[in-house]
Amino acid sequence: MRDTLTVHGGRPLGGTIAVRGAKNFVSKAMVASLLGETPSLLRNVPEIRDVGVVTGLLQLHGADVSSPGDGEVLMDPTDVESAHVADIDAHAGASRIPILFCGPLVHRLGEAFIPDLGGCRIGDRPINYHLDVLRQFGAVVDKREGGIRITAPRRLRGTKLSLPYPSVGATEQVLLTAVRAEGQTELRNAAIEPEIADLIAVLQKMGAIISVDTDRVIRVEGVDRLRGYDHRSLTDRIETASWACAALATRGEVFVQGATQPEMMTFLNVFRKVGGEFDVTDDGIRFYHPGGPLRAIALETDVHPGFMTDWQQPLVVALTQADGLSIVHETVYENRFGFTEALGGMGARIQVYRECLGSTPCRFGHSDFRHSAAISGPTPLHGAEIVVPDLRGGFSYLVAALAATGTSQVRGIGLIDRGYERFSEKLLALGADVEWPDEPTSRSEGSLAHASA
Ligand code: EPU
Repeated sequence: MRDTLTVHGGRPLGGTIAVRGAKNFVSKAMVASLLGETPSLLRNVPEIRDVGVVTGLLQLHGADVSSPGDGEVLMDPTDVESAHVADIDAHAGASRIPILFCGPLVHRLGEAFIPDLGGCRIGDRPINYHLDVLRQFGAVVDKREGGIRITAPRRLRGTKLSLPYPSVGATEQVLLTAVRAEGQTELRNAAIEPEIADLIAVLQKMGAIISVDTDRVIRVEGVDRLRGYDHRSLTDRIETASWACAALATRGEVFVQGATQPEMMTFLNVFRKVGGEFDVTDDGIRFYHPGGPLRAIALETDVHPGFMTDWQQPLVVALTQADGLSIVHETVYENRFGFTEALGGMGARIQVYRECLGSTPCRFGHSDFRHSAAISGPTPLHGAEIVVPDLRGGFSYLVAALAATGTSQVRGIGLIDRGYERFSEKLLALGADVEWPDEPTSRSEGSLAHASA
């Protein structure tokens, strides 16, 4: 696997790329297939590493997973069985998705073993909400070395719960458990992200009865049986925003085929306030820098319909090019500004603070976490050697390297494959001047075919 990308920056990106299904929905919809008695077909699935991880986990539980066509995943759960602990353990550390297997596996097999979780190191990322949720459904959680074992001696039963915070994963845990639990479930303070709405759509196609009421209340009536589904994933709104920021920071333009406006509303407002422009068409959104200076902004990340935490990192890079002092208050994760340190080495002026630099109620106000950032701009960026810290931070380093003058070495690019489909090909398609030093001839050839990772 390629580890390092050499970026000769300072050129505007220009062209068209396609963005497919949302990483943070597709993986959950794949887990949902375990609840059905017949096969499920998911369409618009991107080729990213997280899809491979979930495919592996489904297969080692006996599900038959195949790809009948481009971007299609067919999952047949007919022969689902308990997997060997050692096999499951081999997936430990790869992703946070295994925790969502609990409800479906316990319904089907009476037990589940979940390895210790991976995912990006952007905070502590505990699973206490997940375990509390499972216990409230009547599950017994047994912590063991290397993971947890979940059983339900008296079946899983519907319940009334309220989350301490509208966690995406914990809401998905409730949905995937409640649909086949005995009786009714009422969830308060639920997450209502578009990926959750799409998961609810999938479960409804399978035969579930779920209503979303006002004020973050979700009600589920448990049913005895569910069938497979046929569903096309919503577009990845994080990847869309990432390419939009790359267009802005490089003073270029990128047409993101597949991007849809409703899920991007909050981002689009911010993009325009900063000085970017966009055209919405039937088959995508064109993002561009209209010329002139970019404007500084004060911004807080939040749960939906707020500004997504995952949009923050590439936007911060674009803000280094804006006139004045921008403020970003991160209220979802306590530790998501680690990536800014390396940007400092490229010429950015970014200070991080423990204080809440914003008015959104935030859980980290009285803690020691540096969760607010002040970005002074515009600062010219120059090439540097940088190491990818996590998925979104990694993409933002690509954006910085593309916007910088001179050459950057971006190491650890394998992490970016977790969530960005064929990003190397897309960079070439947008005219980026990139090469892979492990393959000395790659730049001179510069063909899309050569770039396939
Ligand atoms: N939290 C807890 N305890 C829990 C669960 C969450 O304290 O048991 C806290 C987290 O530590 C965090 C906050 O609640 O501070 C929100 O976490 P949430 O559960 O909403 O996040 P998640 O489900 O683990 C998903 C995405 C993330 C995305 C967040 C927020 C997946 C696989 N991951 O994570 O995506 O940032 O929702 O939208 O769906 C990414 O794609 O790069 C990524 C990190």
